[in-house]
Amino acid sequence: MLHHNFVWLFLALASTVWTHPSLTEVHTSPPKISITQVNSSTRWVEGKPDVQLFDIVLNNTGTESWLTTSDNLHVWVESENLQTVQPAKVKRIRPGDSVIVQVSVQNNKDVPQGSTGPATAVAHWGKNASTSHSITARYGMPTYNATAASFDQHESPDWFRDAKYGIFIHWGLYSVPAWGGIGKNENYAEWYWSSQMSPDDPTRTYQYHLKHYGPDFLYDDFMANFTAEEFKPKDWVDLIADAGAKYMVPVTKHHDGFALFDMPETVSKRNSVKQSPHRDFLREIFDAAKTYQPSLRRGTYFSMPEWFNPAFSNYTWLDAFGVGPPKNPYTNETVPYTGYVPVEDFLPDIQFPQMQILAYEYETDIMWCDITMPTSRLSAKFASEWINREYANNRQVTVNSRCGVIVGDFDTSAEYASTLELSTRHFEATRGMDPHSFGYNAATPDSAYLNASGIVTTLVDTVSKNGNLLLDIGPKGDGSIPEIMQTNLREAGVWIKAHEESIFGTKYWPNGFGQGNFRYTTTDDAFYIHISSKPGSGTVVPDLVPYLDGDRVTVVGGSLHGTVVDAKTNDDGYLVLDVSRKVAMADKYTWTFKIEY
Ligand SMILES: *[C@@H]1O[C@H](CO)[C@@H](O)[C@H](O)[C@H]1NC(C)=O
Ligand SMILES: *[C@@H]1O[C@H](CO)[C@@H](O)[C@H](O)[C@H]1NC(C)=O
Ligand SMILES: *[C@@H]1O[C@H](CO)[C@@H](O)[C@H](O)[C@H]1NC(C)=O
Ligand SMILES: *[C@@H]1O[C@H](CO)[C@@H](O)[C@H](O)[C@H]1NC(C)=O
Ligand SMILES: *[C@@H]1O[C@H](CO)[C@@H](O)[C@H](O)[C@H]1NC(C)=O
Ligand SMILES: *[C@@H]1O[C@H](CO)[C@@H](O)[C@H](O)[C@H]1NC(C)=O
Ligand SMILES: *[C@@H]1O[C@H](CO)[C@@H](O)[C@H](O)[C@H]1NC(C)=O
Ligand SMILES: *[C@@H]1O[C@H](CO)[C@@H](O)[C@H](O)[C@H]1NC(C)=O
Repeated sequence: MLHHNFVWLFLALASTVWTHPSLTEVHTSPPKISITQVNSSTRWVEGKPDVQLFDIVLNNTGTESWLTTSDNLHVWVESENLQTVQPAKVKRIRPGDSVIVQVSVQNNKDVPQGSTGPATAVAHWGKNASTSHSITARYGMPTYNATAASFDQHESPDWFRDAKYGIFIHWGLYSVPAWGGIGKNENYAEWYWSSQMSPDDPTRTYQYHLKHYGPDFLYDDFMANFTAEEFKPKDWVDLIADAGAKYMVPVTKHHDGFALFDMPETVSKRNSVKQSPHRDFLREIFDAAKTYQPSLRRGTYFSMPEWFNPAFSNYTWLDAFGVGPPKNPYTNETVPYTGYVPVEDFLPDIQFPQMQILAYEYETDIMWCDITMPTSRLSAKFASEWINREYANNRQVTVNSRCGVIVGDFDTSAEYASTLELSTRHFEATRGMDPHSFGYNAATPDSAYLNASGIVTTLVDTVSKNGNLLLDIGPKGDGSIPEIMQTNLREAGVWIKAHEESIFGTKYWPNGFGQGNFRYTTTDDAFYIHISSKPGSGTVVPDLVPYLDGDRVTVVGGSLHGTVVDAKTNDDGYLVLDVSRKVAMADKYTWTFKIEY
């Protein structure tokens, strides 16, 4: 055997055409690989706007032969108009499985960014096996036009796909009354004003307000109580970093129209700078992040409509929106919309300039719009201009899926979703730590908040399905963050940091996210198995994962990080992990194992 191997190696190295029949019987036939998808993406390698990423899917179409590291498979892109900067190396594909890899390329001199033409992805492996797949590619980054069709080609950047975990912050006037009902009647506390308008609302906000504040106390009167005396932006950003999150998305203006950032008086005076307490909270939060946690990416939640803005009344299309000016629900009297500056048209005069201010003056990384307005044609203009301009600044920024006529870079339809599906389109799931509120609801008992175990399993589940998790906290009206939220976030953060190699920068496994309590994530060099229940001896992994006998399987995270775990394949081809009691006791929430290729 040794001798034969030596001959095989020697012949392979000499690149000789080799057909010795007796040896083909000794060695299994080479794997059959095909390239099934090639996309010239609209993403560039961070920091290098002229280096474009191609996404390539390869499939092992054979039934027996695995592709392994020794096959030395490389993929690159060929074209007269571009050069491959970094080919991809594929170390493992199980028969019947596919993998997704990235190749980076650069336009040749004089090939304009955004022009189109042929390109061929080529894979080469083994002694002399190859396959290819040709497409009409776009070379480099396009300049977007102000139409949805044009902008819809834009994709979420890799830094955002890799970041996986963000903290959403709902803090505004609604944080003062902090009421969203109890238990199964709970609804979003940030919807206080809207809920208050209807005596039949299940949250009983109409009745709650009457009892606690009386019929003459208007929603806008909460401005005087939004004093922020315990608001400590450094503590906020430090907590987010301790939580293990990579980005944050504070609410900059919710549906009540009260903004936490500054703007010209011609746009609106309905904000915390022109009104009490006369502070630019968004600036304070972003400055604290820049100073104390500069690696955190900074996004901005922005409500496209305002319930009661008088200039919005003719845009009505949802029951709760466009019904302004506001009324006192106890008398039906029309009441002022504090800070309103008369404008001609809500879209170009309020919504559009506010989005531009967040983009250009506050330099948001993520424009997180809420409430898709089918009429918001200006979102295509806003997004195309912004992305084009930031391309010139070598900044990859992103917009979510709720901005109006554009589809957006990533889907956000999973809001408090009880189950998630794997999606080949990148998505972001969102929910609060509260069982059903983003804004702080003082009626929620501590025990009902998502705990560390819940945070970890939700994060792992989301990541295994190609999503990010945007987990929300609701600070109190005074700006302090409830203790229980801090405790649970920090506890989860300890786990997340210890297991970060299996979360951040990973990709979903295109062959399945995992059955039962099992979830998978991958990199080019390893496969991660996450189990959300305590494993033991003879733990059978319920999917045909890319494990080959002889692979090293190690523990990720916990006090026994790096420990080798006994692993074997059973008669049906499934991986069996022999997890010792010691290893099982050394971690909690979710147990993670790594197959190294
Ligand atoms: C390639 O693009 C198509 C069409 O947009 C999309 O459905 C598919 O998921 C993309 N594949 C990869 C690997 O990005
Ligand atoms: C990969 O190839 C196998 C065998 O031809 C096939 O059954 C499977 O559907 C393919 N997978 C993908 C993602 O194309
Ligand atoms: C490799 O394969 C190609 C086409 O399949 C063939 O033209 C070439 O001669 C082969 N090279 C060697 C060294 O065998
Ligand atoms: C923008 O419009 C021009 C002219 O119609 C078109 O050639 C170009 O492809 C468009 N760009 C994008 C990115 O859609
Ligand atoms: C709001 O402020 C007023 C005036 O300082 C005070 O009397 C009232 O108790 C405050 N209400 C709340 C809910 O904090
Ligand atoms: C609302 O009114 C403004 C000002 O007259 C107008 O420009 C806008 O098109 C109207 N919007 C709708 C949806 O009718
Ligand atoms: C206010 O108007 C609503 C709807 O027209 C009506 O049902 C309600 O009785 C009115 N309330 C008062 C106090 O007039
Ligand atoms: C965490 O929350 C889950 C779901 O509510 C619960 O089953 C579990 O017991 C909690 N864990 C701890 C340690 O409190």
